[in-house]
Amino acid sequence: MEKKNTIKMKCFRFDPNNDKESHFETFEIPSNGAISVQNCLVYVRENIDPSLAFFINCRLGFCRRCLVRVNGKSCLACTTEVKEDFMVEPLLKEKVIRDLWCDGL
Ligand code: FES
Repeated sequence: MEKKNTIKMKCFRFDPNNDKESHFETFEIPSNGAISVQNCLVYVRENIDPSLAFFINCRLGFCRRCLVRVNGKSCLACTTEVKEDFMVEPLLKEKVIRDLWCDGL
């Protein structure tokens, strides 16, 4: 029997219309093993905070619209899997529209 696990995602948040500064928020995502960063984000938006902003298009690793930084390294949210606690930030903080969604990607 697989052991239930929880992954903590420390997520960059910033809404230029309401926030003076960015901050991080930590969310707990249930997992039985590896899970994509995209699925972590979707879980949060569907179950915890519908205001979390990020961009997903093809979900297949082709369009590159889901680029983010995971633990400081740029990667595609749709094809990158995590097994442990992690931090996710926008690829270009200076171009943030909201949260992980950047202009120009
Ligand atoms: S959504 Fe297209 S590459 Fe990730």
